[in-house]
Amino acid sequence: MVSNTPTFFALLASTVGAYAASASIGLPPELFSPLIAQKIATIAAAIPSPMMYPQYTDRVEGVWQYFKPDEWTTGFFPATLYAMHQRAQLCPSTNSGDAAQWLQLGREWSTAEVPLEQTNTLGHDVGFVSYPFMLELAVDPDNTTAQAAVNAFAADLAARFDPIVGCTRSWDTADPTDFQVIIDNMMNLQVLFASYNLTKNQTLVDIAISHANKTMENHIRPDGGSFHVVEYNATTGAVVARFTSQGYSNSSTWSRGEAWGIYGFSNMFKHTGHIDYLNTARKMAAYWIENTPSDGIIPWDFNAPLVPPRPADSSAAMIAVNGFLLLAEQELSVYNLVGAATYVAEAIRMLRLNTELAWRPQWQSLLANGTVNNPEHNNLTGIVYGDYFFVTAGNQLVEMGLASC
Ligand SMILES: *[C@@H]1O[C@H](CO)[C@@H](O)[C@H](O)[C@H]1NC(C)=O
Ligand SMILES: *[C@@H]1O[C@H](CO)[C@@H](O)[C@H](O)[C@H]1NC(C)=O
Ligand SMILES: *[C@@H]1O[C@H](CO)[C@@H](O)[C@H](O)[C@H]1NC(C)=O
Ligand SMILES: *[C@@H]1O[C@H](CO)[C@@H](O)[C@H](O)[C@H]1NC(C)=O
Ligand SMILES: *[C@@H]1O[C@H](CO)[C@@H](O)[C@H](O)[C@H]1NC(C)=O
Ligand SMILES: *[C@@H]1O[C@H](CO)[C@@H](O)[C@H](O)[C@H]1NC(C)=O
Ligand SMILES: *[C@@H]1O[C@H](CO)[C@@H](O)[C@H](O)[C@H]1NC(C)=O
Ligand SMILES: *[C@@H]1O[C@H](CO)[C@@H](O)[C@H](O)[C@H]1NC(C)=O
Repeated sequence: MVSNTPTFFALLASTVGAYAASASIGLPPELFSPLIAQKIATIAAAIPSPMMYPQYTDRVEGVWQYFKPDEWTTGFFPATLYAMHQRAQLCPSTNSGDAAQWLQLGREWSTAEVPLEQTNTLGHDVGFVSYPFMLELAVDPDNTTAQAAVNAFAADLAARFDPIVGCTRSWDTADPTDFQVIIDNMMNLQVLFASYNLTKNQTLVDIAISHANKTMENHIRPDGGSFHVVEYNATTGAVVARFTSQGYSNSSTWSRGEAWGIYGFSNMFKHTGHIDYLNTARKMAAYWIENTPSDGIIPWDFNAPLVPPRPADSSAAMIAVNGFLLLAEQELSVYNLVGAATYVAEAIRMLRLNTELAWRPQWQSLLANGTVNNPEHNNLTGIVYGDYFFVTAGNQLVEMGLASC
């Protein structure tokens, strides 16, 4: 990869941004609404005792439902507080709140996560719960609590690696030879890089690369769509089955899984420079663009039937917005300006149309129309990771020089 000076990078980004802006419909007006800070601050001020974390809302009033700390989604509300800390620094003159207060809240809301190092039942999801600790290290690289948490969660994930299969195990199943890997796991690899950054333990990077290679080989279809679950045989390493857990069918593409993949492979390219990861992210992005309906609303599964109307998943849309922006940055790093502009334009259009659908001033969440798990009839709610990725999308656009707040 080329090394860009910040000025050169900013120049490229603004060229791409101008091109993308001319082709797109513009940012959603809600992106820097004062309601964002107000709603998040209200939830943050009411710290539950014992500690519980918001995950999704009810479908009617948009009231947060709280869950015990040992959940895969626990890290997203504290991570949102860190994202607001960044927002307040990026947008000091608007209604984004006080940076120091957000940081203090992020730290307070993370404390109950620390014991999870020892006691969690999260399997591969240790990567998701590490978000607040990775974000703390971006603020204070010397925070030993956050360092220890990142290293412990990375070791947990590494302990789930099987060299015969070449992947980290996602879910635990009764039969130890049954080894299930889900596309979501591409997101958890980040904690291995974060721990490598602290320890220089190369094994962690080797595990991430092996996992990503196997996922590239077995989860991604020739058309760029993805399977949710690939089941391997831990004795032989062979693929036993490909199926779905949260999607519409075994052969469908569940939109949130596809979004995790676009983000995850772009991130792998960022860390390693292996062109195959960039090509995989491009292929998944092409599938995404081709299968997005003309109204731009992301359905919970791209192959779900149109009748009855299929619920949207605004969380999948917001993850994909971040994935497309990360992918656009990787395209800039290889001087593919047309590619970068295409992904930026697509990200902005997706952000605009899905925010228009899902923005709910009266709800506690920022967005509605999230689908946690449609096979379990949990659809059309606010979702904590949808809100998190909505905030980070705004931050990322400001950082790339593509939005001003
Ligand atoms: C260090 O990080 C932890 C967890 O992220 C946080 O709870 C704690 O407040 C931080 N400590 C200091 C001194 O900033
Ligand atoms: C590197 O990480 C692996 C996986 O967690 C671990 O087994 C190994 O002991 C670590 N090596 C060192 C030198 O700490
Ligand atoms: C894996 O293969 C072994 C040996 O062939 C067999 O005994 C076991 O039942 C297989 N397990 C699965 C989940 O396919
Ligand atoms: C690694 O650590 C350095 C120094 O603390 C930091 O600047 C960089 O962002 C970190 N990178 C990752 C991938 O965590
Ligand atoms: C993983 O894939 C990259 C890119 O295709 C390749 O260079 C590397 O050798 C592969 N590593 C392993 C361990 O499979
Ligand atoms: C989907 O795949 C699973 C696992 O192989 C299988 O048990 C199930 O019967 C399949 N469903 C359909 C409808 O084919
Ligand atoms: C969005 O959510 C509202 C209820 O909050 C619902 O009436 C509408 O049908 C949903 N639209 C889609 C496309 O999911
Ligand atoms: C959405 O969830 C509701 C129950 O919460 C369920 O009745 C409905 O069938 C689901 N929608 C679809 C299209 O599956």
